[in-house]
Amino acid sequence: MADLLKAEGAMTGPTDTSDSGVRRRDFINIAAVSFAGVGGIAALVPLITQMSASADVLAESSTEVDIAAIAPGQAIKAMWRKQPVFVRNLTPKEVAEAEAVPVASLRDPQTLAQRTKAGKANWLITMGVCTHLGCVPLGAGTGEVRGEFGGYFCPCHGSVYDTAARIRKGPAPKNLEVPTYEFSSDTVVKIG
Ligand code: FES
Repeated sequence: MADLLKAEGAMTGPTDTSDSGVRRRDFINIAAVSFAGVGGIAALVPLITQMSASADVLAESSTEVDIAAIAPGQAIKAMWRKQPVFVRNLTPKEVAEAEAVPVASLRDPQTLAQRTKAGKANWLITMGVCTHLGCVPLGAGTGEVRGEFGGYFCPCHGSVYDTAARIRKGPAPKNLEVPTYEFSSDTVVKIG
């Protein structure tokens, strides 16, 4: 740096009009631009690092749930992308109740078949996030109230979901969301 300052002082002096002075000025300008370039690249590195997904985020992009122990009538809460997912094994009665509802009468019209996989209508897999303001509804945990339509009940403002997790009463505008999922086997579901 001292050398640079000395060179600059020599260069900017009133008597410095020589060819060598001009060349030194050019060198210093190029050096300054080069430093700016390095700084720019250094600033880009953390930005690019932030833009690429971290390993733990990638790991959470899907999650596998063992459903072997979920008896008819029971449900569990899994976590996926830091949000609760309800995995419920509907009883034949609950399936029949969901299928008996006139779809046109629903606020968010969907059949149970549209919300489940073919041949597996008893496996109701939805986000555990109320579509009103995002509370976690009751009904998946043992002994929790399920509301008058037998599905889920949101205690925050009283939204009531049926056995296909469709909104039936209260302020929520939509059915509980069905995430992307597939059956890896008869006893394992991969969500995401
Ligand atoms: Fe569920 Fe408001 S957040 S009813």
